[in-house]
Amino acid sequence: MSSKAERKRLIKGAGYNVFQLKIDDIYIDLLTDSGTSAMSDKQWAAMFTTKQAYAGSNSYYQLEKVVKDLFGFKYFVPVHQGRAGEHLLFSSMVKRGGVVPNNSHFDTTKANVKLVGGVPKDFVVKEAYRSKKKVAFKGNMDLVKLEDFVRKNKAKIPLIMTTITNNTVGGQAVSMANIKGTSQIARKYKIPFFIDACRFAENAYFIKIRERGYKSKTIKEIVREMFSYADGCTFSGKKDALTNIGGVVGVNSREVFEKLRTMLVVTEGFPTYGGMACRELASMAIGLQESTKESYLEYRYEQVSYLWEKLYRAGIPTVNPAGGHAVFIDGKKFFDHIPQEQFPSQTLAVELYIEAGVRGVELGTSCFGEIDSKTGKLILPKLDLLRLAIPRRVYTDKHMSYVAEGVIKIYQKRKKIKGLKRVYAPSLLGHFLAKFDRL
Ligand SMILES: Cc1ncc(COP(=O)(O)O)c(C=O)c1O
Repeated sequence: MSSKAERKRLIKGAGYNVFQLKIDDIYIDLLTDSGTSAMSDKQWAAMFTTKQAYAGSNSYYQLEKVVKDLFGFKYFVPVHQGRAGEHLLFSSMVKRGGVVPNNSHFDTTKANVKLVGGVPKDFVVKEAYRSKKKVAFKGNMDLVKLEDFVRKNKAKIPLIMTTITNNTVGGQAVSMANIKGTSQIARKYKIPFFIDACRFAENAYFIKIRERGYKSKTIKEIVREMFSYADGCTFSGKKDALTNIGGVVGVNSREVFEKLRTMLVVTEGFPTYGGMACRELASMAIGLQESTKESYLEYRYEQVSYLWEKLYRAGIPTVNPAGGHAVFIDGKKFFDHIPQEQFPSQTLAVELYIEAGVRGVELGTSCFGEIDSKTGKLILPKLDLLRLAIPRRVYTDKHMSYVAEGVIKIYQKRKKIKGLKRVYAPSLLGHFLAKFDRL
């Protein structure tokens, strides 16, 4: 545990960007739930015992069995992480000027659509932008708006996507009815429908406990039903496959599969290892089975809710309800004296690190704000959030209490805190490498 004085020096040296800090200088790391889960004894054992092979590895066949059983798509390719899958999918299906509707694109998804000349468009329900309001399925697609847009623009739309859970608006759940409704629109207009399935198991648990008619269904039944409405998916195994690296693209169309496979060989590797060591595929296969166990999901949900409740009860402006993988705080409400142009949630990330040695991440103005190509001005996104993402099977509830104490201490002295100015940002995924200065 470093001292506050040390942390002040370290964060200044990092350009007030928590991505530039070293892990040894962090006490509790809630930067991401991606690739930071603790692997089980069974995963480690499978990694040790699988054979490494360029072609025909047994871990590929082990993964194939689980993926087909759980996701149900006819074909799949392994990839080294979610964004590699996004790149394969969009470069196979999206042409310049093609528009991709999504409930909310995550930053890498958006960047990969843009990289191939496409236009990402979000259609999340309006409640998603009201952080205080508690709505069971706040991650849903606005089906009326989506259909209206699709009717007018169908020739330009190569695929429709939905992201479960919806990370961008607070890890919020998407209902089965909404997945089905999106699928019906896609089918009506003969457009392929894909799921960004990073947190499919957490989403399935939300459906089980919140949606009428699913209480007595098993997680596996819910998962299968969700995917049955789609033509394919991208999946980052770093989330709900409980692995440190890995991913999958699943698809029903033979034609799309062949394009994906060709691109895979060029950019990732042979189809039976897909850019990973074979042991990673083995760990993903086991992790997928573990993450879909109801007892695990119950523990996961309870831990995230525990942190959320501590903050909510202390009057912290959290995004309500708690997300599946993280607790989000509305930075604009937390620091209501700091204008959005001065990065309130980024400021909170900096202050939380100084106060408690805890690393969260801004998902707001720095992450999603775009520069207007005509005026050069920063276009402010509707939400400016701090995400406290909880790695799976890593921390105890006592750690969560400590995190909450840190946030509450900052809230008590919030009026004394000033915002930041951004002094550098690259054009795509700028927040990873951005630099800030104190105002
Ligand atoms: C919703 C969503 N989609 C895609 C990705 C990209 O996955 P990866 O980090 O494995 O490239 C992420 C990662 O956080 C995500 O949250």
